[in-house]
Amino acid sequence: MTEKKIIAIVGATGAQGGGLLRAILSDKNSDFTARAITRDINSPKAKELAKLGVEVVAADVDNLESLKRAFKDAYGAYCVTFFWEHFSPEKEIAHATNMANAAKFTGIKHVIWSTFEDTRDRVPLGDNRMPTLMGKYKVPHFDAKAEANRVFTSLGLPTTFLLTSFYWDNLIYFGMGPKRGTDGKFAFTLPMGSKKLPGIAAEDIGKCAYGIFRNSREYIGKTVGIAGEHLTGSQMAAELSKVLGKEVSYNEVSPDAYRSFGFPGAEDLGNMFQFKRDFETEYCSARNLDTARSLNPSLQTFNNWLTQNKGRIPLE
Ligand SMILES: NC(=O)c1ccc[n+]([C@@H]2O[C@H](COP(=O)([O-])OP(=O)(O)OC[C@H]3O[C@@H](n4cnc5c(N)ncnc54)[C@H](OP(=O)(O)O)[C@@H]3O)[C@@H](O)[C@H]2O)c1
Repeated sequence: MTEKKIIAIVGATGAQGGGLLRAILSDKNSDFTARAITRDINSPKAKELAKLGVEVVAADVDNLESLKRAFKDAYGAYCVTFFWEHFSPEKEIAHATNMANAAKFTGIKHVIWSTFEDTRDRVPLGDNRMPTLMGKYKVPHFDAKAEANRVFTSLGLPTTFLLTSFYWDNLIYFGMGPKRGTDGKFAFTLPMGSKKLPGIAAEDIGKCAYGIFRNSREYIGKTVGIAGEHLTGSQMAAELSKVLGKEVSYNEVSPDAYRSFGFPGAEDLGNMFQFKRDFETEYCSARNLDTARSLNPSLQTFNNWLTQNKGRIPLE
């Protein structure tokens, strides 16, 4: 029996890494085996993975030495950062740099770096159509990831740059689901006008990543964008109405209004949606649906995802 190639997965107890881990586990004939990286090997989620027979290893993206240990002898590494844990673009760049250095040190043969576009390439800091945030960013959680791309490149790492999309799961976990208005009716709020928002089931990101690892030769050195569907706010509201069995209207607000909502990260997300709205063609075409489906033949549509998850969307 030939030995399986280890994929070291950062964020294995979370959305993206968890999807990749489950994709590897569910392929009984896989050439790969998953190594789950977690900060706490004694957490209930980590113990659950160990019970399934998964190798579980402790590391923190804040700690280079721990990552070197976690990446040791691995063929591949799935690298993702956790902006919403700290809201700091500088930390995000430092964490990506740690992962890249650990991958270089351990001789990883294929890295997937979960990244985004640098929005400042299209909206320079002097462009006032959206505010500059934290002194030097337009969309901090995009721009920081894009800045970190060059660390992977400059170290000469065999990297695939994975452009992900808006998780439909945000309707469950991120407070972005339909809300009941003062008139008692449900409305789904986005500042996208009539433009299309590429979205994806978070689980499918990991499945696509698995497809990329399985086709290393084709994807090393490439940027790959993925989405499950490109839908307007009206189309999403129409699907919500159909699947939830309640009328949900699209509440189209301006990016300015969204930025002023006041929750942590509202300005960052207001700028992000405005970027997606104002550069719809470029943003959607960077996320090809056929490519995503070729990497992951079971890629879900919004309707598929909603049908599976309708009971999990908080509706109050
Ligand atoms: N929400 C969206 O629509 C969306 C779309 C595309 C991309 N993104 C990006 O996705 C990224 C987050 O990925 P995700 O959604 O997969 O995360 P997630 O589901 O929140 O999972 C985070 C996991 O990573 C681990 N983790 C957290 N901090 C860590 C650290 N310092 N060191 C090592 N592991 C750590 C945690 O595991 P343990 O507790 O077990 O350590 C946790 O289970 C963000 O940067 C965001 O910008 C989000």
